[in-house]
Amino acid sequence: EKGGHEYFMLKEIEEQPAALENTLRGHFTDGRIVLDEQRIAEQDLREVDKVFVVACGSAYHSGLVAKYAIEHWTRLPVEVELASEFRYRDPVLDRDTLVVAVSQSGETADTLEAVRHARGQRARVLAVCNTNGAQIPRESDAVLYTHAGPEIGVASTKAFLAQIAANFLVGLALAQARGTKYPDEVAREFHELCAMPDAVRKVLGTNDQVRALGREVADAKAVLFLGRHVGYPVALEGALKLKELAYMHAEGFAAGELKHGPIALIEPGLPVVVVMPSPKGRAVLHSKLVSNISEIQARGARTIVIAEEGDETVLPFADTLITVPAVPTLLQPLVSTVPLQVLAAEIARARGYDVDKPRNLAKSVTVE
Ligand code: F6R
Repeated sequence: EKGGHEYFMLKEIEEQPAALENTLRGHFTDGRIVLDEQRIAEQDLREVDKVFVVACGSAYHSGLVAKYAIEHWTRLPVEVELASEFRYRDPVLDRDTLVVAVSQSGETADTLEAVRHARGQRARVLAVCNTNGAQIPRESDAVLYTHAGPEIGVASTKAFLAQIAANFLVGLALAQARGTKYPDEVAREFHELCAMPDAVRKVLGTNDQVRALGREVADAKAVLFLGRHVGYPVALEGALKLKELAYMHAEGFAAGELKHGPIALIEPGLPVVVVMPSPKGRAVLHSKLVSNISEIQARGARTIVIAEEGDETVLPFADTLITVPAVPTLLQPLVSTVPLQVLAAEIARARGYDVDKPRNLAKSVTVE
């Protein structure tokens, strides 16, 4: 049932192209984005003036990624918040607030309570969920299902990529309803999304290289992850995977914060994973990250660089270079997350841990 794999997580990592295809399928017909399971009227979507994404763990990271796209496409303010924090403060919500509750299981207690709180304040709640008929979609106004299929590995992989894709669909539906994107632009964005399964297939070709790297760094005491822009949530996700699977101290930082503290952690031999933006995107972001890598390499860190294929500027600073295909900037997390999943799984395996069932963790967290 593991399809010839040693553990489910690796099988599920390899199922990511299909998870994306299945999540995107059917959501673009007659030149329009359709959130088919939706029960929020087009008119109501048009009136949305603020978006919250509430979620926990990896699902929260999917919201952090989506914020860049949704704000860019819709010009709506988007706040992404941990469900466990959201519900205990007094967030400003009303009928024109759209709350997107993202949950693989659909049963996460904190996210469910956040949904109840939001609905109590008359906000409209859209669930992005991977589990048919779960409690969170049942209590929401509308649901957009991710069709990643059942996820057995406790560490989220294919559901995470599917959540990003679904959140992007929500952004495009909002842009379409608000007219902040012309129909041909919405169509183009959707078609770019549809090219991502093949891009992910290509990244899977680096798995053997990444697994060898994982075995090399398995004895490290800690691993740091750096990124900027959409690479920042990818860094957070890479660190979360490593904590939960390999029980290692791992932290993700916004690379711009290095000088404000974390650079003090850099010491000889410390593995530092850097998620590079495309050199063809915002040149200034790219050059800032190149200078960040050179700084940490100068302090003796072991640099592991995830960069777009053909990006030669990083070569002098990368002790290990892992390349990902060129994709539009906002979609980059869909490719750059994959090697980080494989890295965490392999480090855990090399340390002798059960990759599918990390200690102390449950697949769905139904207590607060
Ligand atoms: C990390 C992981 C968890 C979940 C979190 C939310 O790999 O799997 O952080 O993402 O517990 O779970 P759902 O999406 O079911 O609400």
